[in-house]
This record gives sequence, C-alpha cells and structure tokens, in this order.
Amino acid sequence: MSKFAAQLEETAKAMVAKGKGILAIDESSPTIKKRFDSIKIESTEANRRAYRDLLITARGGNQYISGMILFDETIRQSTSSGVPFPKALIDQGIMPGIKVDAGAKDMAGHPGEKISEGLDGLRERLAEYRQLGARFAKWRAVITIGAGIPSAACIEANAHALARYAALCQEAGIVPMVEPETLMDADNTAATCYDVTERTLHELFNQLYRQNVAMEHTILKVNMVVSGKKCPTQAGVKEVADQTVRCLLNTVPASIPGIVFLSGGQSSALATEHLNAMNAAYKHLPWPLSFSYGRALQEDALKTWAGKSENVEAATRVLLHREKCNSLACLGKYSADMEKAA
Ligand code: 13P
Repeated sequence: MSKFAAQLEETAKAMVAKGKGILAIDESSPTIKKRFDSIKIESTEANRRAYRDLLITARGGNQYISGMILFDETIRQSTSSGVPFPKALIDQGIMPGIKVDAGAKDMAGHPGEKISEGLDGLRERLAEYRQLGARFAKWRAVITIGAGIPSAACIEANAHALARYAALCQEAGIVPMVEPETLMDADNTAATCYDVTERTLHELFNQLYRQNVAMEHTILKVNMVVSGKKCPTQAGVKEVADQTVRCLLNTVPASIPGIVFLSGGQSSALATEHLNAMNAAYKHLPWPLSFSYGRALQEDALKTWAGKSENVEAATRVLLHREKCNSLACLGKYSADMEKAA
C-alpha cells in the first residue's frame, strides 16, 4: 500500500462524490487546435489560456464538478487576475488533475491500432505535477474496432501500460484515473462494442492486479456500450444503459471507488440521457456512476464563446447548465425538459 493510502482514498471518494463529476479540459495541443478550428479561432497560447480561464473560473461550477483534468500547458497557466489555475481550482474546492500519457501512437506491427506512450520519466513528472497541485491523473488508451481488430496484443500492451502508470501514480500520492477508450467511430453494432469493452476491461483489471495497483485507490474512466457512429441501427437509451451496466458488473471489482464515463463523440444531450438512464434504473450498484466528459460538457460553451471576451458570460451560463444536467444525471434526476428551459 502507498504511504499516501489515506489521502488517495479521500481523493478518490471526493472525485465521485454524490452528484459530482469531472470536467475534462485536457485536450492536447493538436486536439485543442481541432476544437478551435471549429469556431475559427487560432490556437495561440493566449487563446488557449483565455478559454481554459472561462472553464476554470465559471462561478458555481463547484456544485457539480469535483475535479478538472488539465493539460501540461494548462497546469502552468494562470487566471486573468494572475492566480495559478491549480490554485484557482483548489480555492473553489475543485481538485486539479493532469493528463500524463503522451498520446496514442501507431502501434508497430499492428496496422490501424494505437498504443499510448509516456511511461519514460513518468515518476519524475508525477512528482512535479503533485507539487503543482495535481491530486489525480489520467492516462488514455485507445482501442479501435475494425476488420480483425482489436488484437489481443493491442489490448494487452495498453492494459500493461495503464497498470504501470497507475502503480507510479499511487506511489506518488496521485489517484490514477485509468481510461481504456473503445472508440465509437466505426460501423460496429453495440454488441461488438460490448464484446470489445468487456475484453479490454478484463485485461485491464488483470494487469492492475498483477502489478499491485490498489483497486480502492483507482478510478475507472470508460466508454459506454454504444453502437458505432456509422452503424445503420443505433442502440436506444435503455439498451445503452442496460448493456453498459451489464458489462461493468461483469468486469469491474466492487472495490473500485467510482466509474466515470467519457463522452467519446456522443451529443451533449445523449451523453447526459445515457448517464441518467443508468442511475435511474440501477440504484444499488457497487460503485457510483458519474461523468468525466470533455466534448459533451464543453461543446455548447465553446460555440457560444467563439473566442470573444464579450461572450464569456453567456458561455459560462451554457457551461453551468450542462454541468448541472450531468450532476442531476448522476442522481437519475435529469429530464429532457430541462433543455427547453435553458
Ligand atoms: P470526451 O468526453 O470528449 O470523449 O473527452 C473525455 C476525455 O477526457 C477523453 O480522454
């Protein structure tokens, strides 16, 4: 057990406190450029800072958000009034987190598949991030569905890396959020997504166990079981909720303090509806089910902001609305009518 056991336990519990979830604002430089391209603004350091400032200082967000995942550049930046972002979060009772994988790269010998890099030097990087205020970290592994893939080798290599990362985090007093993301971009059915997610989670928890990672101090971040975007038949909300919960019950130890979902390209409203459907129908699961959305929380706010300081107030309102909807979805108390009132 890590000498930080008590703190890890407290952090992990707080991350998934009742009615709270995580806002992921850890887009890497290429990803934030893509998001800024969509609103036709340039991805400069100043624009990235201004946008993250809006997300971090949105007043009242702390009712719904327990933590935010930052990118390396962001954890070193400050608010317009000069407060370092991690301090600005801590002052609101929101925990700073940090993305520590160095991205999903093409996996040699495995066309179409990815392996996440970033283990070299990770112990030293984690020590620095902790000093900067980080209390949890995220590592994302990408599993791609296609003809003959994912391979066992890709699932195994990514699970192995996730376990190595998680062990280093716990040693450093940082809660690992382990994120194996099965992508939803292909034409596969929800049943295939179920199979791939199940295989991936079995391998992940096997590796975590073999590498002495404490389940009690680990948060799982995962995709829901959904149809691929290009699949002609799309699973409905109830099916997504039922199959996702079934998959988790079949693979995730009860001692994990919480599970959070990524949105992965779902629309904002659908990501909320799915989470709500799970929490409304399943009241006695071993773990809280919450959110760690990037796009599904930010998309509307990003469009409203559009890079203009005069839009910050309106964009903040839009952001808080999505945060509130997802907070209610954690309790199974969201209703689509809330969108009309917004
Ligand atoms: P999305 O919710 O946009 O999938 O992002 C969450 C995330 O952090 C992916 O790693």
